[in-house]
Amino acid sequence: MTHLQDNKPESQRLEEFFGKQWQIYQKVLNNNYMGHREIYHVLQEFIINYFQNPFKLLDLGCGDASFISQALLNTKIAFYYGIDLSIPALEIAKENLARINCDKNLISGDFSQLDSILDSSPEHKFDAIFMSFALHHQPLEQKYFFIEKFHKLLNSGGVFILIDVVRPHTEDRDTYIRRYLDIAKQDWLLVTPEEYSMLEEHMLSSDFPETQQTLQEISQKIGFMRFECLYCDALNTTQLLCFYKG
Ligand SMILES: C[S@@+](CC[C@H](N)C(=O)[O-])C[C@H]1O[C@@H](n2cnc3c(N)ncnc32)[C@H](O)[C@@H]1O
Repeated sequence: MTHLQDNKPESQRLEEFFGKQWQIYQKVLNNNYMGHREIYHVLQEFIINYFQNPFKLLDLGCGDASFISQALLNTKIAFYYGIDLSIPALEIAKENLARINCDKNLISGDFSQLDSILDSSPEHKFDAIFMSFALHHQPLEQKYFFIEKFHKLLNSGGVFILIDVVRPHTEDRDTYIRRYLDIAKQDWLLVTPEEYSMLEEHMLSSDFPETQQTLQEISQKIGFMRFECLYCDALNTTQLLCFYKG
């Protein structure tokens, strides 16, 4: 059953911001500028192999769920729980997820208010917690706080799966973002100059990619049993990481 709850997002500002950017993001997805096709192919293989029994997945910042809905085809997904600030994106997610045969719950809300969102739900524990291109907006302390919470919300044997921009340890934030923007300027041919300016402004103000080493240290401090990188793109900008609860 799918519930589209229209609750009180405190982050009105963030919701409006992502609403405006949504059209650009659609263009990025449709043209595979961020490499979603390759990453989600690896993700699907992983899910099929790792979850041999029915499993529950929490997707934070699910957006329109266009890629996760494909990756969940032919898997043992029993329950999909998606949270996003953007109501228009969730409306599309509902359509995209229609092809997945499982229970579904789509919630409009701020994932930093996870406790209050999940309190109203009977399904408190998950086998997989998934975040795709949504964690890097948070400052480092907040990332730690979230990942610690995910550890508590996972069943034993569960896994936190992170797809995100990750910078090499040889690059600081500014160098990484400048390099990323240079790639976008050169290769994202259908992005207009106006859209590129919005992307640039967004990345310079809101993106805080960590290194794989920092994320691994967080994983160890919190008590995850194992940390693994399943995929790194050829441009060394994006990774698929697994934090295993054990
Ligand atoms: C770059 S999009 C990624 C969408 C999708 N996960 C994907 O990989 O294609 C980031 C998404 O995170 C959502 N988001 C960002 N901050 C959020 C927050 N604090 N609470 C809920 N959703 C958030 C945005 O609305 C947006 O849909």
